[in-house]
Amino acid sequence: MSDLVIYFSRSGENYFGGELKNIEKGNTEVIAEYIQELTGADLFKVETVIDYPQDYMECIDVAKKEQQVAARPKIKETLESIDAYETIYIGFPNWWGTLPMAMFTQLEQLDFTGKAVKPFVTHEGSGFGSAIKDLKKYCKGGEIKQGLSIPGANVYDAKDTVRAWVEE
Ligand SMILES: Cc1cc2nc3c(=O)[nH]c(=O)nc-3n(C[C@H](O)[C@H](O)[C@H](O)COP(=O)(O)O)c2cc1C
Repeated sequence: MSDLVIYFSRSGENYFGGELKNIEKGNTEVIAEYIQELTGADLFKVETVIDYPQDYMECIDVAKKEQQVAARPKIKETLESIDAYETIYIGFPNWWGTLPMAMFTQLEQLDFTGKAVKPFVTHEGSGFGSAIKDLKKYCKGGEIKQGLSIPGANVYDAKDTVRAWVEE
C-alpha cells in the first residue's frame, strides 16, 4: 500500500524573520513535495473555494474570524476515502495555534481507522501549538505518530530532516 500526503499551503505574501515577502510556493508545499520525492506518496492539496487574501495582514484577520466561529470553509475538491493508503502524512501551516479550518473540512470526512498519521507543520515560532490535540480529535481511529515541525524560513534546508523523519 502506498502513502498519501494531505496538506494545505498558501502562496502569496508571507512573513520571513521580520520581513514581508511574496512567495510563489507555500512553505508547507515545499515539505509535501520532499515527502513525495522521498516516499513516492500521492499528494492531495486542500484548496478553498474562496481564496485567502494575498495580503498577509488581511489573511491573518480572515483566518482569525474563521477560527472564532469554528468555520468549515468549502473546499474545491473533497477526498472521499483513504482506504487505499497505509500512512497518511498531514501537513499544514500553524494558523493561530492550530490547523487552518479548511483542513478540518476535509479531515472530518475521512475514516482513519487503522491508519498511521504523520503530522507536519511549518510555522513562525509556535510549532504545532494545539494541532496534535486537534488531530487526535478529528482523525478518528488514526494512530498519530511523532510529528515534524519546521520553521517556515527553513524549508529549503530541511530535506535531510524530512528524510530522517519519514524513515522513522
Ligand atoms: C493566517 C495565518 C496565521 C498564522 N498564525 C501563526 C501562529 O499562530 N504561529 C506561528 O508560529 N505562525 C503563524 N503563522 C505563520 C505560518 O504558520 C508560517 O508562515 C507557515 O510556514 C506558512 O505556511 P504556508 O506557506 O505553507 O502557508 C500564521 C500565518 C498565517 C497566514
